[in-house]
Amino acid sequence: MSSLDAKLNAALFSREQREIRRRLPQPSSASSETELIDFSSNDYLSLATSPILRERFLSKLNDSPDVLGSGGSRLLVNGKTHSSLETRLAEFFQSPAALLFNSGFDANAGFFACIPQAGDVVVYDEYIHASVHDGVRASRANNAQFSFSHNCLASLRRLLIKLLDERHGLVNGQSSLFIAVESLYSMDGTFAPLAEIVELCEELFPMRNAYLVVDEAHSTGIYGPQGRGRVAQLGLENKVLARLHTFGKALAATGAVVLTSTLVRDYLLNYARPLIYTTSLSNANIIAAECSFDMLENGVAENLANNLMDLVTHFLDILRPRLQSIPPSLVSLPPHLHSPDAADALNAPSPIIPIMTSQPRPLSSYLLNLGMNARPITWPTVPKGKDRVRVCLHSGNTREDVEKLADGVISWAEAIVLEQKRARKTVQRAQMKAGLDVFMESKL
Ligand SMILES: Cc1ncc(COP(=O)(O)O)c(C=O)c1O
Repeated sequence: MSSLDAKLNAALFSREQREIRRRLPQPSSASSETELIDFSSNDYLSLATSPILRERFLSKLNDSPDVLGSGGSRLLVNGKTHSSLETRLAEFFQSPAALLFNSGFDANAGFFACIPQAGDVVVYDEYIHASVHDGVRASRANNAQFSFSHNCLASLRRLLIKLLDERHGLVNGQSSLFIAVESLYSMDGTFAPLAEIVELCEELFPMRNAYLVVDEAHSTGIYGPQGRGRVAQLGLENKVLARLHTFGKALAATGAVVLTSTLVRDYLLNYARPLIYTTSLSNANIIAAECSFDMLENGVAENLANNLMDLVTHFLDILRPRLQSIPPSLVSLPPHLHSPDAADALNAPSPIIPIMTSQPRPLSSYLLNLGMNARPITWPTVPKGKDRVRVCLHSGNTREDVEKLADGVISWAEAIVLEQKRARKTVQRAQMKAGLDVFMESKL
């Protein structure tokens, strides 16, 4: 075995040992996967299986002169369909400019690698997506990046004050500070306190050199008027430097758009490597995205989102009381979902519902055997000790589906509790018997 092979094998073996080795799902199970109830994909509005969207897409494909490929990088080919979608999206999202990327990952990686300049600082929520980390790592702010505790305004305030104390450029406005957050966090289903972060920036940075960048990957299509996202819902369009909307989740397409100023757009066109050195989205991709945005504009998506929220409420209403008899270490909901009374705009339920458990794989397998697909999520995707089964509800799920899911979670937990009781009794009996034997022997 070559030295390289040995090292790669050792790394994979180590992951295997720690039960964190990633694997693609078996292709043989792919067909049965479609028969499973989907509690896993990010297809929140079930648009991927919408006959209306499919019909619209096929018909537009048929009518379009350009369908296949795109011919090259945006900087080298005509890209008429791309420019036209950008114009449409800038208007739809009420943004000065829009720029397409091949994926949300590319957009974040490209943006954060090139926009922060020498002397600038990047601050991000500790749960920020991997693509932001990759971008910042490649940027001139690589040695000036800091995280704050998840959604914690006090932690962010402390960090910003410390940075202002240490870096004169931030005080006199010669340097810039970027704050990266997700409007809805993909693993926790929690909302960033966007309005409060904007207020904090305005309070601490009177020179207006703190810039908020919001990743709306998981809120696109679901929140805000016509599914325009949380920034639009809160009316903060003019308070953020950039917003990212991805097409691969609720919109059942591929690609992403960065909404920003014309200057930042122009800079990205010149410096964002994942945009410059790649073949742009194919025309078919653009047509698919156009069709999905039709669904947002014509109100279909809003109806689907309302239905989705009803399902979320129903699921939590039936699960919460039944969890009370289960040890929280075995299965619990995260604090923001403990009680419907505690829910405010920030703690409102979302379609992402983490079922916290110390045994995510056995729970996920149990659900799979009952015909439900909800994936286990473990470290390093989530912090150590925060393992979970990530449940994602979809507009296409039924009330019966979510009731079946609640039944499955509870029956699994009850079986484990029973098993643990039996095991304890067996140990107790063995201990009593051992004690009795000792007693009897002492009488002999
Ligand atoms: C918060 C967030 N941002 C960006 C991305 C990347 O988007 P895409 O799937 O379009 O590359 C994802 C997807 O995993 C995500 O969850």
